[in-house]
Amino acid sequence: MDSGHSSSGLVHIPVLLTEVVAGLQIRPGARIIDGTVGGGGHTEAMLVQSAPNGRLLGLDADLAAIDRVQKRLAPEIANGRLQLVHAYFEQMPTIAQQHGFEAVDAILLDLGVSSFQIDSAERGFSFQQDGPLDMRFDLTAATTAADIVNHWDEQALADLIYEYGEERQSRRIARAIVRERPFATTAELANVVERALGGRRGSRIHPATRTFQALRIGVNRELEQLAQVLPACLALLAVGGRLAVISFHSLEDRIVKRWMQAEAQTFTPDPLHPMGGTERTPTGRIITRKPIEASAQEVAQNPRSRSAKLRIIERL
Ligand SMILES: C[S@@+](CC[C@H](N)C(=O)[O-])C[C@H]1O[C@@H](n2cnc3c(N)ncnc32)[C@H](O)[C@@H]1O
Repeated sequence: MDSGHSSSGLVHIPVLLTEVVAGLQIRPGARIIDGTVGGGGHTEAMLVQSAPNGRLLGLDADLAAIDRVQKRLAPEIANGRLQLVHAYFEQMPTIAQQHGFEAVDAILLDLGVSSFQIDSAERGFSFQQDGPLDMRFDLTAATTAADIVNHWDEQALADLIYEYGEERQSRRIARAIVRERPFATTAELANVVERALGGRRGSRIHPATRTFQALRIGVNRELEQLAQVLPACLALLAVGGRLAVISFHSLEDRIVKRWMQAEAQTFTPDPLHPMGGTERTPTGRIITRKPIEASAQEVAQNPRSRSAKLRIIERL
């Protein structure tokens, strides 16, 4: 789980950078979509690798991320190689079509939160620094974390914390939240969760980590968006094109892994007949039989990479 702090303050260090660029086989002239531009680290490396005439379409749900990268990579925008759009990646098919990105060579999804977001207390992603209970990637989206903790009923809260936080004490936490609400800030919520769980008990991770993860996933509909965009990405790739996904927790990784396995399957089992099923033509070839993880050296330089898992599939 991501404790949330970049080792170097306001810089977002791209995770598994060499592995992504190599695994996606970025060549000069490539057409690329980066669904999660963030600080633009992967975007920039893929532009370099696809020089002189490769083109990249970048999306991010966070307008602040788009604005920052627009300034930093202004020369690439000016020369027509980079186009940036403020949007959720679930809108990728429409946006790709609008920008003439069809049959592309490579797509990257580097999921979750960027260091900029975590380090901005006012975005409400962190319980290490006090801020409003927000957690939206897109500040124009309707639902904030405060809406969920202050208005959902106890059962729904417990389910969310259990499912998206994989938190076994979800009922106890939901009961305490309902008893102590309303909450305005991340610190207020973190304190109540910590008390509900009987304090830190010597654990290295803060007792509210799982609850905060659950709220963030819920606020941004992260798992629904991921499940929806994966088939759309495959459909946008040219034959031989590759999709790389970096996930940071087991819920995301499971969705990516199962989906890739299903696309690569040569046989669809029949659930009603254990021995039955039909042959199918696979739509993808899995490039990473096991997910690629950060080296010890990368983890030492960038603790955020500790939980990263990179999976790559090629369109057949
Ligand atoms: C881990 S960061 C990406 C970092 C980036 N690869 C880099 O090198 O700086 C994830 C980014 O994805 C964005 N994001 C998360 N979910 C998204 C979604 N469903 N649609 C669009 N952007 C999303 C976040 O706003 C965040 O900026």
